[in-house]
Order: sequence, then structure tokens, then C-alpha cells
Amino acid sequence: MRRALFGSPPTGRHGSIGAVSSPIIVALDLPSGSAALDLATRVAPHVGAFKVGKELFVSEGPELVRRLRQTGAAVFLDLKFHDIPNTVAKAVAAAVRLDVQMLTVHGSGGSAMMRAAETAAQETAAALGRTPPLVLGVTVLTSMDSAALSELGGETDVTRQVERLARLAASSGLRGLVCSPLEIMPLRAMLPPSVQLVTPGIRTGAERSDDQKRTLGPAEAMAAGASWLVVGRPIYAAADPVESARRIHALATGGA
Ligand code: C5P
Repeated sequence: MRRALFGSPPTGRHGSIGAVSSPIIVALDLPSGSAALDLATRVAPHVGAFKVGKELFVSEGPELVRRLRQTGAAVFLDLKFHDIPNTVAKAVAAAVRLDVQMLTVHGSGGSAMMRAAETAAQETAAALGRTPPLVLGVTVLTSMDSAALSELGGETDVTRQVERLARLAASSGLRGLVCSPLEIMPLRAMLPPSVQLVTPGIRTGAERSDDQKRTLGPAEAMAAGASWLVVGRPIYAAADPVESARRIHALATGGA
């Protein structure tokens, strides 16, 4: 069963935000805008959205996002905003004007910041007559362990801190979260069913796990309750990125 990304409960398997109904988000972790656009154009038939992160955005700027949007692709702007609420709200409004479909904010920015982000997304989109982007909360970065958390003070148990920030994000009005493969099931069990879960760390077993320590296959992650799968190297570093994207899409949607 398919569902629209926005506004409907995630009882089905995945969303649809661009021209293609696919839960696969390809991370464009590539050195140049031309390489990113070339890959995006080739794998587009199997991909629901493309993720533009800090490196690509800082080097190529909003123009790359505009060019990706011109191909009809949905864009996930992964800049992980974390600042005072007013500043984050203005950055989110600018992202809505840029016409992105997903963006990220840090849950550790607090409830006022997350509410401001969601309100800015809704109000700016309404003023432009657009569908608001999905504002995703980032909980504890997977690079942080208990020792790193204890340096900051406060909660030192990573699982408890992830759950705390996830609850705070949902109660602040965010409609989605980024989470690791192992967090999908516990978060699904505790969050309202309408919350979308976006999960990196996806590997099929056919490729290297690279630096990802905790991985799941596409079918397993979807079965656990993921709404979207962020896939980078298994597609962009594959010998045949188009075939890899096709296969991962098929695995995720039960077509393989
Ligand atoms: O190449 P790979 O499939 O590992 O890429 C995963 C993408 O998801 C990268 O852009 C990475 O920065 C991002 N990501 C992640 N783990 C997180 C959050 C984001 O791998 N916890």
C-alpha cells in the first residue's frame, strides 16, 4: 500500500513526494554539483528523493538544489539546523522558498526551536501555496557514544537520550525523525504512528559496510517500520549505480 508523505498516516510502506514513489533517498555525498546532478539524473527512476548535505550545499549552494528540483526530483536538505528559534525559523523559511521537501533540525536545540521550525515550514508553505516540507528531528548523532554524551553533562545513556529527544520532537510538532536502523523498532513502538522515520545505515550485504557499524537491509528496515531509507555509497559508489538503485528499491518495496 502506498501513501502520500504528507498528511496521511504511515500505515503503508513508504511515501511519495516527487515524481517517483520510492522510499529510497540517495545521499549525494559527491565532490561536485555536476557529479551529483549526473548521478541524480541516472538513478531518478528508482529514487524518491535526493539528500543534499553540508559539503555539497556549502560548495555548490542553493543553485544545485534548484537544478535538482528542475529535474522533478524531491530534495532532502540535510543541514541539521541548531540555533535560536528565530534564526532556525528564518533558515527553514528560506528552505521552503527553495522548495525542498525534507530538512533536518537538531532535537537538542529544544522544543521552542523545533516548534519554530515546524511553524515556519507550515506558514511559509501556506503563503506560497506549497505542501510544507517534512521537518525531521535529529536525536543523538550516531558518532556520539555514552562517553561523548557524558562530556556534555546530563543524560549519558544513548538509548534513553534518543528516546527523550524523539518524544520531545514529536510533542513539539515535528512529523518525522532521523534514526539509526536499530532505533526504528523502539521508536515505532513509542511514537505516534504518523511520525515518519528516515533511516541511514542501509546495506544489502552485497557491498562493504564502510564505516557504518549498525546496518540493516532495505527489506528489514522497512519491515521494522522505516518510512524512508537514506542510501549513499551502496548506490553512488557501486559499479553500476542504476542497477544498484533499482535493486535496493525492489528490495525495499518487496519487488525483489
Ligand atoms: O554511504 P552511506 O549509505 O553510509 O551514507 C549514509 C548517509 O546518511 C550519509 O550522507 C551520512 O552522512 C548520513 N547519515 C548517517 N548516519 C546518521 C545520520 C546521517 O549515515 N546517523
